[in-house]
Amino acid sequence: MKSVEIYAPASIGNMGSGFDVFGMAIEGAGDRLIVERAPAGTLVINRLTGDPDLPLDPQKNIVTRVGAAVLAAAGSRIGLRFEIHKEIVAGSGLGSSAASACAAAAGVNELLGRPFDNHQLLELAGVGEQMASGSLHYDNLAPALLGGFCIIRSTQPLEVLTLTPPDKLWLVIMRPGVVIKTSAAKKILPDHLELHTAIRQFGNIAGVVVAIQQQDIALLGRAIEDHVAAPARSPLIPHFEKARQAALAAGALGFAIAGSGPAMFAVCDNPDSSRQVLAALQKVYKHDTRAKAWITRPDHTGTRILSKS
Ligand code: HSE
Repeated sequence: MKSVEIYAPASIGNMGSGFDVFGMAIEGAGDRLIVERAPAGTLVINRLTGDPDLPLDPQKNIVTRVGAAVLAAAGSRIGLRFEIHKEIVAGSGLGSSAASACAAAAGVNELLGRPFDNHQLLELAGVGEQMASGSLHYDNLAPALLGGFCIIRSTQPLEVLTLTPPDKLWLVIMRPGVVIKTSAAKKILPDHLELHTAIRQFGNIAGVVVAIQQQDIALLGRAIEDHVAAPARSPLIPHFEKARQAALAAGALGFAIAGSGPAMFAVCDNPDSSRQVLAALQKVYKHDTRAKAWITRPDHTGTRILSKS
């Protein structure tokens, strides 16, 4: 095999209350890579579309760094050429770095004849996430690779649990036109939690798991409320409280920050309600020319090969 075309979806890290622990893959946005075998010693990005701010320097781009990590782990001496087509804006909270890292890890793995399983690929993709956000969290990586709803039960050792998202789940994403770097959004978090805050969060975390398993969207909407990161992060997001209130008034069953923001997501249980919530959110951000909002659903597949030659 000489070339692999591969796609990895966007994802909602944290899913509100599951800070660094929950993540869900979503449809409608993702990163597409073409990975080609090249002469030994070659590691280049031939083309990058969708985000002019990302580096082409192979030492600085997540894709090439993860590609090199997979080659090193496999003891392979082949070279690699990449084309990167990004649909997920970096710094949006929708798992842009995770999608690139997973596509790179799985694409190079495919080129090498699949020496690594998903667990190993997640750890290798972690090289990219660590580089992008300055800390290693798997709540975007796991859903980007595996699809569906993922729970990071432990990072050392890495243990990921997966659940099938509810059939009736509709999500409205609103991404304001500002960028928030995950590394910066992590630095503003409190070092300690009051016990009563932790207890509220434990209840919600348990509630999210039950909601997913029992397909109870109203419970999911209540349980995504985040008492840990949202109080510190929501002031960074323009019109957050206005957007939350508008979404709930329009029929959303819950509303939270996606990952480290600025994107937010609303939970709905039918398409009509999601259209009303979308309209309400668009009204709040009507003066933000770079804002983007859309209706989406969970992605069940995760990273997938589109073509090989
Ligand atoms: N769990 C990470 C955080 C997700 O909230 O910092 C980053 O998108």
